[in-house]
Order: sequence, then structure tokens, then C-alpha cells
Amino acid sequence: MRHIAMMRRAGGECHPGSPRAAPEATPSRTLVRSADVGEHYFARQPQTDSRPGTVDLVLPDLHLRLATDRGMFSPDRVDLGTRVLLETVPPPPPDGDLLDLGCGYGPIALTMASRSPQAIVWGVDVNERALTVAERNAQTAGLDNVRFGLADRIDPALRFAAIWSNPPIRIGKQALHALLQTWLARLAPGGRAHLVVQKNLGSDSLQRWLNDQGHPAERLASRAGYRVLAVDPKDPS
Ligand SMILES: C[S@@+](CC[C@H](N)C(=O)[O-])C[C@H]1O[C@@H](n2cnc3c(N)ncnc32)[C@H](O)[C@@H]1O
Repeated sequence: MRHIAMMRRAGGECHPGSPRAAPEATPSRTLVRSADVGEHYFARQPQTDSRPGTVDLVLPDLHLRLATDRGMFSPDRVDLGTRVLLETVPPPPPDGDLLDLGCGYGPIALTMASRSPQAIVWGVDVNERALTVAERNAQTAGLDNVRFGLADRIDPALRFAAIWSNPPIRIGKQALHALLQTWLARLAPGGRAHLVVQKNLGSDSLQRWLNDQGHPAERLASRAGYRVLAVDPKDPS
């Protein structure tokens, strides 16, 4: 078991080499109220006052104490859906480029990086505060095979051997579909995506939609009201 106890560090400094870019076509202050995570902003720069905290990510193979902050997803505890994903997904490919789509403060990307130390893991988000905290978490954990950034700082030629995501369902169906179409198209041949979606937030209709789009999608696990979907690339023929 990898066990890394982290000291909380206050502040939100950017790290050298941190990918930063021009604004994306994302609403700058969309307030979303979620039943299970409280308020959060899918904002590039959340307006909520900073209040640093920590959460423990405890998995059979990994224990990380992660820094969190207000203005990002699930700052008080590791989201249940995220835990369901990390406890049920098969091991990631041992090498290549791997993606955490909507990485937040990094629990999924850091788990991938720990489980596949020879791979390069990319964590993408729209929330700069979350990206800064995620980078800090990677440094504190001593995981140097993970890169966090905004989407447009990732080489468009990269193809991912695996994509893991607790996707941002609450951005709305149209935006979610566009997001998934963009990134699933970047699965490498033979690659696989694993998505965790709450049943009552539309996991089954999302699975149908993925299949309709030509991305074979099957239910890999169902636990605690969450489904883990395994999604394959479109057949190129
Ligand atoms: C359900 S949260 C999961 C966060 C983190 N992976 C976790 O498990 O705690 C979804 C994340 O997607 C991010 N997000 C929203 N719109 C996005 C977009 N267009 N591109 C990338 N990430 C996005 C949100 O900011 C949020 O951090």
C-alpha cells in the first residue's frame, strides 16, 4: 500500500511549468447547487472565498491525504461516486498517456498515476483553483508522472490509452455530450474509458446515448446508486 500523509498547505500559488491558457467557452460564474456536494462553481476562477481543507482518499492500495478548497467539487470528502469508480475500475494500462476528464483536486488522476507509474497522466479541468490544488497534491504525494491543466494546453495529437472520469453531469446534457464526444474521440485504438455516473442523474440514458453515438458502452459495476460505465472507441470502419 502506498501511504502518503500530506501536510495541508494554505495558499494557492501556481507551480512553475503549470499549464495555463486563455479562457475557454465555459460560463465564468455558473452556480450549481448539488444535493450531495453543496454549492460549487464550474468557473475558471471561483469567486467563493478560499478555505483550505483536506480529505483522505483511502483505497485498498493507496492512502492519500489531499488538499482541497472551497469553489471546487466535493471539498469536504472524496465523492462517493469517485470512490466507487476507483474501487471497481480495472488497473489502468501500465504506460502511455492516460486522462482524468474533470480532475478537480485530483483524486482520480493521482490514483491513476500511482497505479501506473510508467504512464503519463493528464488531469483536465476548467477550474484553475482546483488545478492549482491538484498540482500541489501531486507534488506532495511525490507523483511526478501527472500533469494538470486546462484542455487547450494538451497536445491535440495525444491519444489516451485510458480515460477515467467522474464527469460534470450538472453542466447540462448538451454540454456534457459535447465534452464526452470531444474526449472520447481521443481514445487510442484499444483504449477504454470508465465513467462513473449517479443512476438518478441519468447513467442509463447516458449509456444509451453513448451506444447511439457508436461508442460501445457497458455497465461494469453498480453500487450505492452509481453506475460505472466502460466505453470503447468508435469502430473506425
Ligand atoms: C464531478 S466533478 C469530479 C471532480 C474530481 N474528478 C473528483 O472526482 O473529485 C467534475 C469536474 O469536471 C469539471 N468540469 C466542468 N466542465 C468541464 C469541462 N468543460 N472540461 C473539463 N472539466 C470540466 C468540474 O470543474 C469538476 O471539477
